[in-house]
Amino acid sequence: MKAVPSYIISICSGSICGRTDNDALLKACLEELSIPVREDGKSCDSYTSADGRFRVELTGCIGACHRYPVLMVNDELYTQMSEERIRKLLHKII
Ligand code: FES
Repeated sequence: MKAVPSYIISICSGSICGRTDNDALLKACLEELSIPVREDGKSCDSYTSADGRFRVELTGCIGACHRYPVLMVNDELYTQMSEERIRKLLHKII
């Protein structure tokens, strides 16, 4: 039986947020959480840390397009994100 992650990080990949460099946001998340990207370099919809505490996933529009790019950590909304802001946020959580 798989453990339920303590933190689910949902990065919006909707049409508005998708205008930004979502790959860079995703990559920053994965780096901070030491989650390897796929060897073939292709992205997938969901990544889980080795300890199972974190799951990072791409999701559709969260409904806060006017403050793009956005992500959620569990039920908490974070807006106008950048690589730097994601890294700072994760440092607080980790
Ligand atoms: S497209 Fe990202 S919140 Fe709507």
